[in-house]
Amino acid sequence: MFDTMTLTKILGALCGSLLVFLLGSWAAEELFHTGGGHGDGEHLAGYVIEIEDAGEVEEVEEVDFAELIAAADIGKGEKVFGKCRACHKLEDGANGTGPHLFNTVNRDKGSIDGFGYSATLASMEGVWGYDELNAFLENPKGYVQGTKMSFSGLKKDTDRANLIAYLETIK
Ligand code: HEC
Repeated sequence: MFDTMTLTKILGALCGSLLVFLLGSWAAEELFHTGGGHGDGEHLAGYVIEIEDAGEVEEVEEVDFAELIAAADIGKGEKVFGKCRACHKLEDGANGTGPHLFNTVNRDKGSIDGFGYSATLASMEGVWGYDELNAFLENPKGYVQGTKMSFSGLKKDTDRANLIAYLETIK
């Protein structure tokens, strides 16, 4: 059995290390708050560097959209068109909720006779090239403000590339 002296020593040692531990974590916390709070600590500098790094990685990975079209899978594009079918027909002149999409690639924007376009699209210049279709189909409301096309957009680059390659075969 321990005598009182040994017990006291053991307790003393335990309390001592607990105190060191508490002081240590208090000091660490204090240091962290000081660094973050003033906005110019090493922590913040570390974040800035991380963000810059992420940006660089993204740039390297960015793929040219024309390359995606060149490598597109037309069969998959036809499946993606399932999301457009409710509003768009592919036969020349067959307008529905949306204008027909016969010969869409490189056709003039807002140019189908007899379709009631939104004011914005009706007044847009130029043709639906790859880049224009890519931007519009990613975010219809962003590309044509006030568009009548109630479609949230296709978020995947490859979906848009496959779909546009498919539309290009419809002519
Ligand atoms: C809910 C119905 C709806 C859906 C779904 C829809 N569209 Fe549309 N789309 C429209 C309408 C309406 C317009 C006319 C927009 C305007 O006037 O602003 C339009 C316009 C367009 C135009 C411009 C045509 C032109 O003559 O200038 C293209 C290209 C187009 N849509 C492609 C697509 C594709 C591809 C999809 C599927 C990914 C799709 N749309 C899904 C309703 C729809």
